[in-house]
Amino acid sequence: MKGKHLLAIHDLSAEEIDSILNLADRLKSETKEGKSHEILHGKTLGMIFAKPSTRTRVSFETGMTQLGGHAIYLGMNDLQLGRGETIADTARTLSRYVDAIMARLFKHQDAEELAKHSRVPVINGLTDLHHPCQALADLMTIREKFGKLSGINVAWVGDGNNVCISLMEGCSLVGANFRAACPRGYEPPAEIASWAKNRAAKSGSLVEIETDPEKAVKGADVIYTDVWVSMGQEAEAKTRLEVFKKYQVNEQLVEKASPNVIVMHCLPAHRGQEITDEVIDGPHSAVWDQAENRMHAQKALLVALIKGLP
Ligand code: CP
Ligand code: NVA
Repeated sequence: MKGKHLLAIHDLSAEEIDSILNLADRLKSETKEGKSHEILHGKTLGMIFAKPSTRTRVSFETGMTQLGGHAIYLGMNDLQLGRGETIADTARTLSRYVDAIMARLFKHQDAEELAKHSRVPVINGLTDLHHPCQALADLMTIREKFGKLSGINVAWVGDGNNVCISLMEGCSLVGANFRAACPRGYEPPAEIASWAKNRAAKSGSLVEIETDPEKAVKGADVIYTDVWVSMGQEAEAKTRLEVFKKYQVNEQLVEKASPNVIVMHCLPAHRGQEITDEVIDGPHSAVWDQAENRMHAQKALLVALIKGLP
């Protein structure tokens, strides 16, 4: 995997996902035991942020420190990119200094442009279309809770957004069943859903998209939700809050799933909108382990892309 970009989960094979998660599990146990693993000693990660972040920034930065490397935060006001330097020239320049670039951008095409002109691996830290680092941490969390991914029933409730798309692709690759309940007009793009359905068929699992949350969560091992208004969609907030009203993950909905269901959310959560306090703070919630796993999964990813898997 050395030298590859990660712009979307479909850039990885099922075997590569498995290897990254195995390494992530190992790095997590070593970290818990206080063992150091300076695998990326002397390496630097450049991190471009066109949107705010709590988890992505802190997990990548801390992860690089734990690996013996260094990370540089580059906001739009820090870079000449914010004053009109092109993405291509930014990629050409940064890749003469750093060993990998992580970028959180608005348009997915901008991440593709960055990767096209970069000599070093580019990692998508969220675009309007994909959030592959989130999906890696999510798969790690599901595997940790259930001991496997194949055959696990994942129910998505809400907006068919970037997080939904990456999770759907990830599930289809690893053989988990993915059923989404999204309001009409807010489903993941048809072309990506169709790719995921075909990929799932090869893995022996199913991808289904419908509108009814109660149907989607029936028999679910995992219920997953995300905000109704993603970054960059603020102008649509009023309409969206109305459209998604029936898509709240609350105790009544959780009761309809499997008794051992875990509830996931990429965070940040809008408590009282897509998820209630009772659920996010309740016994089924896995959200803090999930947030922690961002760091372990990304450390494994950084090692894989910068150094190659052991
Ligand atoms: N889940 C996630 O990407 O969180 P941040 O926006 O805080 O990075
Ligand atoms: N769908 C959300 C995820 C944030 C981590 C957004 O794009 O804002």
